Amino acid sequence: MPAAACPIGRACLFTFGCTLLFTLTGCDGPQSTLSPAGTGAARILTLFWWMAGFAFVIWLIVFGIAVYASRPKRSSHSANASRWLIIGGGAIFPTVVLTLLLVFGFRLMADLRTTEGADLRIAVTGERWWWRVRYLGQKDQSTELANEIRLPLGKRIEFILDSPDVIHSFWIPSLGGKVDMIPGRINKLVLEPTRVGVFRGVCAEYCGTSHALMNFKVVVMQAEDFEDWLATQAEPAAAPRSALARQGKKGFFANGCSACHTIRGTSADGEIGPDLTHVGSRLSLGADILPTTPEAFRRWIAHTEEIKPGVKMPSFGMLPDEQLQAMAAYLSGLQ
Ligand code: CUA
Repeated sequence: MPAAACPIGRACLFTFGCTLLFTLTGCDGPQSTLSPAGTGAARILTLFWWMAGFAFVIWLIVFGIAVYASRPKRSSHSANASRWLIIGGGAIFPTVVLTLLLVFGFRLMADLRTTEGADLRIAVTGERWWWRVRYLGQKDQSTELANEIRLPLGKRIEFILDSPDVIHSFWIPSLGGKVDMIPGRINKLVLEPTRVGVFRGVCAEYCGTSHALMNFKVVVMQAEDFEDWLATQAEPAAAPRSALARQGKKGFFANGCSACHTIRGTSADGEIGPDLTHVGSRLSLGADILPTTPEAFRRWIAHTEEIKPGVKMPSFGMLPDEQLQAMAAYLSGLQ
């Protein structure tokens, strides 16, 4: 009886269809390896489909053999045929398949690490638990920001990756493969975005208490828009416009925030925490866990330890709410 005519067969087909539908619709989104937005991710996806295809064929063969072996009346076969089944299926076939995949994988890996002809260089340091991002320009000039990486469409971008203390792993699933950030060592990765959009990067190596709260936004822009954005980021911070923000700026310095944070254009030049020069213009706060609204800034300053356990920045919940609101107005206004 064909599967479509049998009620059990129809139920199986329906379940299989629903599973496939739910699985594949879940494969899109800002951090999906199955929806590539970069040349590296596309090549890795090709490797994945080849591996999945091979695995499916091997599964069919093994399943066929199992069905054949479980038949109550099967014909006998010679010792010679059994020997060749074991040598061929158990040794030669897996050796050939695994060697082919290994050679393909090694060639792919070498291509993804080639840093020749990069149009832009970005140094990213894995901190606990956030990302220090520096756009390296000519003559030792660099622009620093945090937890947000913007990239020009169609350019080759070289990432220079390191960490001062623990091992992290830098990964933008939509754009390419992951690379470890190892203390005392510099690793490199080249990515080439092929689609405009907002994607998500993650830390892919357990690095401590707030490992899961260490993400970042990746924005792929048209080349001209990117140049404008980078020029704005390189500028010093704008002066606060409202009375509340001016009061917040005073609070920022009075409470010692400048010892850990830099705001270019002011006397704040601390290097322990993220550069805040244009923090209000970013898409997220606290390494992609809060929006950059004044309310989110207020919450973050007052409850840092609760929002991100183990973070180096102390909570300032003891400050009067009025002062917290003023500081939130100042920081969210740093566009
Ligand atoms: Cu950094 Cu996990």
